[in-house]
This record gives sequence, structure tokens and C-alpha cells, in this order.
Amino acid sequence: MEKIISLCKRRGFVFPGSEIYGGLANSWDYGPLGHLLKQNIKKAWWQFFVQERDDMVPLDTAIIMNPKVWEASGHLQNFSDELVECKKCHHRFRSDHLLEAARMEPGYDKEDPPKTMADVICPDCGGGLTEPKQFNLMFKTFLGTTDDTSTVAYLRPETAGGMFVNFKNVQQVTRRRLPFGIAQIGKNFRNEITPGNFIFRTREFEIGEFEYFFNPNKEKWEDLFEMWLGEIKRWWQDVMRVNMDNLVWHEIPDGERAHYSKRTVDIEYKFPFGIKELHGIAYRTDFDLTRHETVSGQDLHYTDPETGEKILPHVIEPTFGIDRMMLVSLLEAYHEEEAPTSEDGKMETRVVMRFPKHLAPIQVAVLPLSKKDELASVAKPLAAELRKYFSVEYDETQSIGKRYRRQDEIGTPYCVTLDFDSLDDKKVTVRDRDTMSQERIAIDEVKNYLKEKFKQ
Ligand code: GAP
Repeated sequence: MEKIISLCKRRGFVFPGSEIYGGLANSWDYGPLGHLLKQNIKKAWWQFFVQERDDMVPLDTAIIMNPKVWEASGHLQNFSDELVECKKCHHRFRSDHLLEAARMEPGYDKEDPPKTMADVICPDCGGGLTEPKQFNLMFKTFLGTTDDTSTVAYLRPETAGGMFVNFKNVQQVTRRRLPFGIAQIGKNFRNEITPGNFIFRTREFEIGEFEYFFNPNKEKWEDLFEMWLGEIKRWWQDVMRVNMDNLVWHEIPDGERAHYSKRTVDIEYKFPFGIKELHGIAYRTDFDLTRHETVSGQDLHYTDPETGEKILPHVIEPTFGIDRMMLVSLLEAYHEEEAPTSEDGKMETRVVMRFPKHLAPIQVAVLPLSKKDELASVAKPLAAELRKYFSVEYDETQSIGKRYRRQDEIGTPYCVTLDFDSLDDKKVTVRDRDTMSQERIAIDEVKNYLKEKFKQ
């Protein structure tokens, strides 16, 4: 993790938030390359789960909604974690995290691990802990200019509410028949007690999620759930291209699921700091629409056009943390290997981010061997042409060896180098990030050559 965090800062993927003011704990800003990587992951997610399907529709709803939404969803009453505070150093912890960690402490008897908070002490100073109390994770804010409590509102902790309250609107205007899904990607806010592990747990983060509505009298939820699990596997294997051995498919057992869910699977990842939730999928029955009907007093039923039957659709909800996917893509891409330098062939450690080509923030680097005008007069128009199809970086400073290393470290799949021979033979050298092999390609052909490469 330290290597990733340092590379992210050095190369402009992720900066500590508000750094010139001493930072703000656990807040991060995505730099130029981080922005591009995150955009590419979101684009790929959107293409895979929404654009390429005929049963999904997009949505983009407000971050601040009527507080009744959170009353109906249960967030106002139940969206809380148990918090304990050390009586000595006053550090605050999530009690479930402490219990989990305590079971791994060498000082505790593994045969008889602590079962209650009374058995646990402060991991920072050994002090005693207060009684656990519930702490609601929603960020409160105030609308308008008066202190009147009627103006209290909340920043959304998930995007799902937006899909449920708009179900009827969307169904009517799109004239969709069940089953169909409503998808959106957006920012969410949770006042986490213990944020940490870089961008893994923060107080603001993005989610991509969809609600897949269906008629339980026509479709078996078990089949739809399996269909979506299959799609999720395909996403990780074919699009994110992770090592599937690093994923853990955690079936949440009876008794640990939310009361309304008949099946929930957490997709976990073997992070360097432990096996942790990456994202999830849940069958939520008709819990959400029922609650919104009750609290709003509106009829949210769907009328089956063939049978005339009125039903409340049931829902399967796959949810993806965009920032966690980004962390996974950084972890999966990071490689260190011994490789010869391009100057003298001596072996040295090269750091290479092996992003799948379609996710790489920079796809092509155009590197004239020197800053001389003769080379720039050919290299710049070539870069301009390539920019119409790829994300391109133009770099003419430092030795070519250093420039290759830099592009390897930011994961650029192809470097296009112009040398003085290029002026005569009208060819450039294209270097492959992964194999480091080089090919001479006619300048006129480079665009098509690269287009072919990106199809692979
Ligand atoms: N609508 C369902 C829902 O919101 P969740 O498990 O609470 O489910 C969904 O959150 C996903 O959002 C998680 O699986 C995780 O990927 C991501 N996530 C949750 N809290 C987060 C945080 N504090 N920082 C970054 N990502 C977070």
C-alpha cells in the first residue's frame, strides 16, 4: 500500500486532500491521471452494465433529497454504527472493527476470543472503553437561512433512494415492461467513524449501482440473482481483468442479512490490509417500494400490460464502490521487475502499471527524441491526429530511457518515438509497455496500427 500511495502522489493519481493547509484526515483528491483512470472505470462500467443492455435505463438524481426518503428507507432510524470511545486517550472506534481486530491480537486467547466490548481495551493506549452508543452516519445539513428544524436535510448515503422514488416516473416515460433496471453513478457521503486505508474507506465516495425491478410472479428471483452474479464475474474477469483468485465470493448467511433480504453476496478482495468488502449484490424483495408507498402515500404499483395484474415490483440491487474498484485496479496493475535500460542495457528495477489497455489513463505517449524543431514539426501534428482517437501525452524532456520509465510507471500501453531517421524514412518506433518490444511503423499507419492494438 505504501508503494501505491507514494506512486499515486508522485505521478498524480491521488493527492492528499487540502494538502497546502496541512491536509484533512482521510480526504483525497484525484489528480490528472487519477481522474482519467476513474473516468475510464466509470465509462467501462456504464458501457457494460447499462449501454450494452436493452433492459437498463439511466438516471441522475439529487444528492439532497426530501428527508422523508431516508425515513422510508430506514436510514434515519438504522443507518448507524456502534461507536466506543477510549476513556483515557479519547480515540473513537467502531466496536465491530475492534472486536474483529481483537480476535487476531496475540494477547487474546484464540480458543476463547472476546465476545463483548467489555473484554476489549483501547488498541492505541490500553485504556478502558465507554459503553457502545449508536452513531448515525448520515451527514446532516440545513436548507435555507433559518434555524428552523424543518430545514434539516441529509447528504445522501447511497444513490438507491433516487431510483426508488423515481421508479414510477421512469417506468411511465420510458414505457418499460418488467424486468428492467435503473442505474446511476454518483457521489455519496457517510460520516464514517474510522475512515482509512487510503481511498478504501472515506467520507465521500462514488457508487455505481442499479435497481433491477421484476415481477416475482413471472420471474424467479433465484434465476435473476444468478444471472447478475454471472454478469458481475464477467465484469471482473473480462473488463477489469483482475486475478480472479484475489476475489472472495462471500455468501451472507441467514441471520446476518438485512431482515428484508433473501440473499446477499459480498464480493470481497484480498487487499494488502486484509480481505475486505469490495462491493455487493442483494435481493431486497419489495421492501423499498413498499416503504416508499407507505411513507409517501403514493401508489407505486405496476400494472402488468398482459394480465392487468397490479404488483409491487421486487428488486435485485448490485452496488459497486467506484473508489474501491479504482484501488483494486491500482493494486492489480502494480508490478516491479528487472529490465534492461534502453541506454546501456544494464538491468534495473522497472515499476510498470499493467492496466488493461482500455483503462489506462494515458493510452499513447508521443516522444520526439530531441526538442529540435525538425522533430517537433512532425511529432506535434502526429500527436494532434492521435488525440482524436486516444488519450495522448506529448513529452520531449529528459532522456528517452527516463521517459520510457515514466510512461511505464503511469501504465501507458504504447510509446511512439520519433528520431532523426523518422525525417527520412517517415517511420516511428512504437514501444509496447508489457513486452518492451519495439516496431518501426510508417507515420501514416500509426493511427490504424494503434487502433488494432487497442482492439486486442
Ligand atoms: N445501496 C446499497 C449500498 O449502498 P453499501 O454496502 O452500504 O451498499 C455500497 O455500499 C458500496 O459502496 C460498498 O460495497 C463499497 O464498495 C462502497 N463504500 C461504502 N462505504 C464506503 C466508504 N466509506 N468509502 C468508500 N467506499 C465505500
